[in-house]
Amino acid sequence: MPEQTGPVTIAYDPPALDGETLDALLYDHLNEWGQSDQFYLDLVMAAERVLDVGCGTGTILRRARAGGHAGRRVGIDPDPAMLGQAQESDAAEWVLAPASAAAWDAEFDLAIMSGNAFQCLLDDADTVASLTAVRRALTDGGRFVFDTRNPAAKAWRTWTSAEPYRFTDPLGEPMSVVQEAGEPDGEGVVRLDAYFSASYWDEPLRASCGLRFTAPDHLDRLLEAAGLAVEARFGTFTGAAFDPDSSGSIITVATPFGRKGLRLRAGAGDGALEVRSSRSNRPTDTP
Ligand SMILES: C[S@@+](CC[C@H](N)C(=O)[O-])C[C@H]1O[C@@H](n2cnc3c(N)ncnc32)[C@H](O)[C@@H]1O
Repeated sequence: MPEQTGPVTIAYDPPALDGETLDALLYDHLNEWGQSDQFYLDLVMAAERVLDVGCGTGTILRRARAGGHAGRRVGIDPDPAMLGQAQESDAAEWVLAPASAAAWDAEFDLAIMSGNAFQCLLDDADTVASLTAVRRALTDGGRFVFDTRNPAAKAWRTWTSAEPYRFTDPLGEPMSVVQEAGEPDGEGVVRLDAYFSASYWDEPLRASCGLRFTAPDHLDRLLEAAGLAVEARFGTFTGAAFDPDSSGSIITVATPFGRKGLRLRAGAGDGALEVRSSRSNRPTDTP
């Protein structure tokens, strides 16, 4: 498996940072715990050995440990500025690497990829390599649960800011950010630029990234190429059915071909998601 690294601590010192590092260090500051995080946390709490792919700052695994999760927790992420924040906690084994470098073999009952981290996989080759590595990491009966935005909902058209978003940074300084999003290129990748302004800089500091939008039928082909089949699909984190034309998210539960499924349950009450399988899950509607 990839080497577990020692902690990478990057100080929050805006004048010394590039835009992408600043963006990463502000991630938890600007993103509150939400329904999707709770969805994944419920899954983690119900599983014994969990791999969080693209774990970012490690929020979900840290909450899991705080909530009494007693099994194995591993988080993997290639961004030192994101993973460095996770590494401030010993709530999990933290590995600095992209998903495609995950080399575990049948060690996890559950792999998750939350917060649209899947959209950071920008082409088919990296996506299939990453999915193949995730599949290999799963035990018999294991599940891979992840979300990615549905291109049909065209979320990028809402991302360009009409006005700056103003907030107070971790040092108490007024800061603002404006976003500019383009249209998807031929691969479905949307470029997103964020411009941060504060007294630290004479000019706005830009953070850029690409986010790929993958249509559900193509997603199924990529999963199949990696030996994974769709077992269940939802359009919301409360378990609403996926509608290809209108759902904002594609939330997928995938399982290795031909492996016997175990019961996986998330949440409680009306929002509970439950999938159960004891059959081969090879899809019949993909080439
Ligand atoms: C939007 S953040 C989501 C973080 C976390 N999963 C959450 O829900 O808060 C996307 C994460 O995906 C990570 N990422 C980017 N490329 C990746 C790759 N090839 N493999 C795994 N993770 C990747 C980024 O470093 C980032 O931490």
